[in-house]
Amino acid sequence: MTLSNRPHPYQDLREFLARIDDIGELRTIRGASWDLEMGALAEIIYHGEQDNPPAILFDDIPGYPGFRCVSGLTNSSQRLAITLGFPLSKKPLDIVQSYRDRMKEHKPLPPVEVQPDQAPIYENVLRGDDIDILKFPVPKLHELDGGRYVGTDDLVIMRDPDGDWVNIGTYRSMVHDSKSLGLWISPGKQGRQIRDKHFSKGEPCPVLICVGHDPLLFLASGNELAYGLSEYDYAGGHRGLPFEVVRSEVHGLPMPAYAEIVIEGVMMPGDTRIEGPFGEFTGYYASHASPQPVVQIQRIYHRNNPIMTMASPMQPPSDFSFSKCVTKSGMIWDEIERAGLSGVQGVWCHEAGGARMFNVVSLKQRYPGHARQALHLAASCQSASYMGRFVVVVDEDVDPTNTFDVLWAISTRCDPSEDIEFIRRAWSGPLDPILNETSGTNSRALIDACRPFERLKEFPPVARASDGLRNAVAEKFKQQLGAD
Ligand SMILES: Cc1cc2nc3c(=O)[nH]c(=O)nc-3n(C[C@H](O)[C@H](O)[C@H](O)COP(=O)(O)O)c2cc1C
Repeated sequence: MTLSNRPHPYQDLREFLARIDDIGELRTIRGASWDLEMGALAEIIYHGEQDNPPAILFDDIPGYPGFRCVSGLTNSSQRLAITLGFPLSKKPLDIVQSYRDRMKEHKPLPPVEVQPDQAPIYENVLRGDDIDILKFPVPKLHELDGGRYVGTDDLVIMRDPDGDWVNIGTYRSMVHDSKSLGLWISPGKQGRQIRDKHFSKGEPCPVLICVGHDPLLFLASGNELAYGLSEYDYAGGHRGLPFEVVRSEVHGLPMPAYAEIVIEGVMMPGDTRIEGPFGEFTGYYASHASPQPVVQIQRIYHRNNPIMTMASPMQPPSDFSFSKCVTKSGMIWDEIERAGLSGVQGVWCHEAGGARMFNVVSLKQRYPGHARQALHLAASCQSASYMGRFVVVVDEDVDPTNTFDVLWAISTRCDPSEDIEFIRRAWSGPLDPILNETSGTNSRALIDACRPFERLKEFPPVARASDGLRNAVAEKFKQQLGAD
């Protein structure tokens, strides 16, 4: 699907919810408490209904009339297709392919500014004593969490003091009290680099935390893009229409005009408080409680009857892990091709690895060394670099999404002492459960599970019936095989 014939984008989260409801992918759950019940229900649904689980709209949250919270917005192939304006499909690799095709013509599209009277986010503004973040149904997601987390499916918006661009990242934020939050940003993240720039000059770091918004912004925000490319522009390029933004009152930062809830605040150098622990996407409470910068809340903006967005990390699968697999796979495919690699047939970042730690590239080998080149690029490109672990390259006859076939290829086409290489001291961080507290780096195993290029012609043939034979025999015996 080209950008010129993509469907008209939905205007906001509310229209998106109506569209996914139309295709039967929105389930409303009434009466769940913010206190562990919303988190446990997300786990029950995402662990229990692994085949196409719905998005969950929590309504009638006890103690919070008029407020709703939604989880799992982009976590199916069809919901991703609606988010990105692709043809509807239930097949993940169709979405990966559409993403990779889209990127061939994608151009960043900067947002346009509107005035507060045109921006629904300005329907309510809380200032001074009225500021109370616990006015919203902020969930406590897991039993051992250090507190209630308002920012999980969030957009943390900051301006780079050294360049006139705005970064957006998804970073967890924990409520300390009604007027302050803790924000956990891993070393190396662009938001962390920006915050460090402010602090190294001894300056406060202004920030917006949006916790209800268009899921396309969440997709952009939660994935690593090139430094200097604003997620607003990147997401606008996918939308085919610029996002509308409106300046915040205190720091003049751009808020999505149709956002549901935006927190505006400031982090001061040296002002820290204990944040965490928090159940994370690897499936562990990694990164213990630690002192992290405090966001002093200066304003809260919200629409009438606002809808919070929530993403609950846990032992995968979670309410966002599938979405991450698809977007990450498309991004890696796009990036390694941009780096000049030919022959890529597919990429899949497995959900069990949290879409980061077990990634597979399928390749039609064309020259000696081609498979290793694919491995190094797929391990080190921007979208794959953070917290990677295993990268596998397989031949084009192996479906990279099929764990059984990938393990078969590793078992039969990879000679461990020759075909597994390591990258050491690569970018990781405190969420990596294998690391000790002080190390920021891990290693990568690059597993070449392709037939050796030099032996492609004489490598033993695969013991599998040809398609012709298989189809003919299946047709002849279909009644006894129980086929329709
Ligand atoms: C649901 C979700 C939660 C995340 N939480 C965090 C977090 O707490 N801290 C962090 O550093 N990265 C977190 N990430 C990953 C970052 O959002 C991701 O690395 C992104 O590229 C960061 O933006 P940046 O590259 O502009 O810094 C999360 C991603 C998702 C999808």
